[in-house]
Amino acid sequence: MSVQSIGVIGSGLMGNGIAHVSALAGFSVILSDVAIERAEKGLTNIKNNMGRQLTKGLISESDMTAALGRIQLTTDMAAFSQSDLVIEAATENESLKKEIFAKLCPLLKADALLASNTSSISITRLAAATDRPSRFIGMHFFNPVPLMKLVELIRGLATTDATAQAVTEAAKRMGKVSIAAGDSPSFIVNRVLCPMLNEAIFALGENVGSVEDIDNGMKLGANHPMGPLTLADFVGLDTLLAVMHVMQTATGDCKYRPAPLLVKYVEAGWLGKKSGRGFYDYSGNIPVPTR
Ligand SMILES: NC(=O)c1ccc[n+]([C@@H]2O[C@H](COP(=O)([O-])OP(=O)(O)OC[C@H]3O[C@@H](n4cnc5c(N)ncnc54)[C@H](O)[C@@H]3O)[C@@H](O)[C@H]2O)c1
Repeated sequence: MSVQSIGVIGSGLMGNGIAHVSALAGFSVILSDVAIERAEKGLTNIKNNMGRQLTKGLISESDMTAALGRIQLTTDMAAFSQSDLVIEAATENESLKKEIFAKLCPLLKADALLASNTSSISITRLAAATDRPSRFIGMHFFNPVPLMKLVELIRGLATTDATAQAVTEAAKRMGKVSIAAGDSPSFIVNRVLCPMLNEAIFALGENVGSVEDIDNGMKLGANHPMGPLTLADFVGLDTLLAVMHVMQTATGDCKYRPAPLLVKYVEAGWLGKKSGRGFYDYSGNIPVPTR
């Protein structure tokens, strides 16, 4: 099946990014949220982000106008009845996602494909809660979606080759590079990345290095574009802690235990950039280490 029309459920951070790249790629897009004001906020973000691409010369005025003209907003899932592929990017909550699929599936075309952008929930388990496990797949985009090239494609136990191929082609048309990841907690990128960030926080807590020395060490010694403590602040320390808990619970392996200092920062409400304070204080022009 060749995908021409895409539905996106949830117009938050990820959903509006997915709608953005889909519309620029020429797909017709329906973007939904629980309230029309939220969907409209998603569209405003898309307009602002496309405006930035326009200023940088990455897209033309006519690309932007055409792409925005391909996006339709809704709060009614019946609007997805003609979509070839629906990508769910709603809040990370398993029962909420299952409720969405229960309402959505009877409204879809029989051959429509369904994808979830979940970061941590089993694709096989989500697929089993739908009427189409063979046409269900994980499509894990990265934030910010218009800038990040990667999509992890996660096949559930029942996902067919035809589904994987159609979704790989759709991702390619969006300008993304896809990699195949197993249906295992945190897939590939977060599985490797999050324990590294957690380890940097262990090192800080054990006074192996200062915030600046740990970040500079990994930037200059491992050629990382951003130090691990800066990156942890960007990801959000609460999100990082949640990922470590998911991996620890799912595997029972103590190598995933969260660093005590990470737990303390989250208890303090020091969640990183979004709360203005994490391993750095973001209240001034230049971030200042908090330890
Ligand atoms: N934030 C990230 O960096 C990131 C990266 C990759 C994947 N993800 C995953 O993407 C998904 C969305 O995350 P986000 O960061 O965009 O969250 P977000 O909170 O920014 O957006 C979620 C949106 O879903 C909407 N929503 C909730 N219930 C809905 C429903 N029944 N129908 C339609 N919309 C509904 C909310 O109103 C909200 O606008 C999650 O599964 C998350 O794990 C997030």
